Amino acid sequence: MMPVMPNVHRCRRPLEGNKHEPGPLAVKQPAAAIVRASRASDYTAVRRLLDDAQLPTADLASAPGLRCWVLEMHDEVVGVVGLECADRGALVRSLVVARDHRGQGWGSELLVRVEREAGELGIRQLVLLTETAQRFFSAHGYAVIDRGRVPEALQRTAEFRSLCPVSAVCMTKSLETGRD
Ligand SMILES: CC(C)(COP(=O)(O)OP(=O)(O)OC[C@H]1O[C@@H](n2cnc3c(N)ncnc32)[C@H](O)[C@@H]1OP(=O)(O)O)[C@@H](O)C(=O)NCCC(=O)NCCS
Repeated sequence: MMPVMPNVHRCRRPLEGNKHEPGPLAVKQPAAAIVRASRASDYTAVRRLLDDAQLPTADLASAPGLRCWVLEMHDEVVGVVGLECADRGALVRSLVVARDHRGQGWGSELLVRVEREAGELGIRQLVLLTETAQRFFSAHGYAVIDRGRVPEALQRTAEFRSLCPVSAVCMTKSLETGRD
């Protein structure tokens, strides 16, 4: 799998190699990371990240149609994003980046990835609930929407019905391209 760099790139010049020193290929890339589909063995790390960010975990193992992708750096899971599909809509949920890695573009990278996966699954509308990151999502094209206007299949999810506080802001983004 190809390593990815976050949306905000930090340039590091590789060390020059010579006859006595390892060349650039031997230099460990500090920001080398991959975003990959989650595996069952990621559960504990994912749960810890979500608990730390006070995001819902009660239905993590049971929500129907929930897929997750994780950000892995040097064999450690340091970020996650989830997509809970219902009909042609989906909830973007469980987006978190470990505190030490925030502000470097990884949250945006995870969001872009989940949007691409949703598009490939034929999802037309993304919806999310957030108490803390409205500005972050606005910057990525999400607009506030009244909860009552969200497709019913999404309103029936546990995250929507009971896990997210009523004070959470509901936001949406269309993935329609204008072509059918
Ligand atoms: C939201 C979150 C995933 C963003 O991850 P990140 O790796 O820091 O994001 P990026 O580096 O890609 O983007 C940083 C930008 O988003 C903004 N941003 C990040 N988190 C923000 C937040 N909670 N509220 C408002 N803006 C936020 C930063 O100010 C920055 O803006 P700038 O580029 O104009 O300086 C991360 O802050 C996080 O894990 N928060 C806790 C969990 C959470 O609130 N999740 C969302 C609810 S589902």
